[in-house]
Amino acid sequence: MKYPSCKTLGTALLLATLGLTPAVASDQAQLAQAVEARIERFDEIDRLFKSMRFRVVTPRHQDLEAAYEYAQAMSQQTQGLVELFDHPSDRSQFRFSKARPSIWQNKSDFDAQMLQMQQQFQQLEDLIAAQDVDAAERLIDQTARSCRACHNSYRFR
Ligand code: HEC
Repeated sequence: MKYPSCKTLGTALLLATLGLTPAVASDQAQLAQAVEARIERFDEIDRLFKSMRFRVVTPRHQDLEAAYEYAQAMSQQTQGLVELFDHPSDRSQFRFSKARPSIWQNKSDFDAQMLQMQQQFQQLEDLIAAQDVDAAERLIDQTARSCRACHNSYRFR
């Protein structure tokens, strides 16, 4: 008679203790990756947005070429960002996440706000490329309000 290896038995025991089948455990690992990735993306967007704003609105430090690069990088960070919210992340398991469960009760509204941010970043690229500083400043303020609006509805403080 052949016995399962200690390792296999150990893993099976651990999963049984957690109340998980291997398939569920790997879904959990994928979800954990998505949660970490979206937080990293938003941290990067935050950093880029502040740098871009500084290079547009501060006359002594104005640098539209640098601002354009930041705007482009922000757009890149939004590629595939909404997909990182495809599955609800349970707060009891992902304590470090500030995503509110209401995201998944109003997913189409959340997705629409995400799309709006993406479009605002693209418009910012265009306005900066056209050196339309006044319009870019107005859109930067409007975009900052979009960040806050979404956080008020869908992010824990
Ligand atoms: C469509 C909704 C939405 C928009 C628009 C949005 N955010 Fe967020 N943001 C979130 C959610 C939800 C989280 C929490 C993600 C998590 O913790 O799982 C978040 C997280 C963050 C974080 C990370 C906070 C932390 O947990 O450390 C930063 C920084 C951030 N956003 C900045 C911004 C900035 C800057 C903008 C605008 C340029 C913006 N966000 C626009 C929904 C949004």
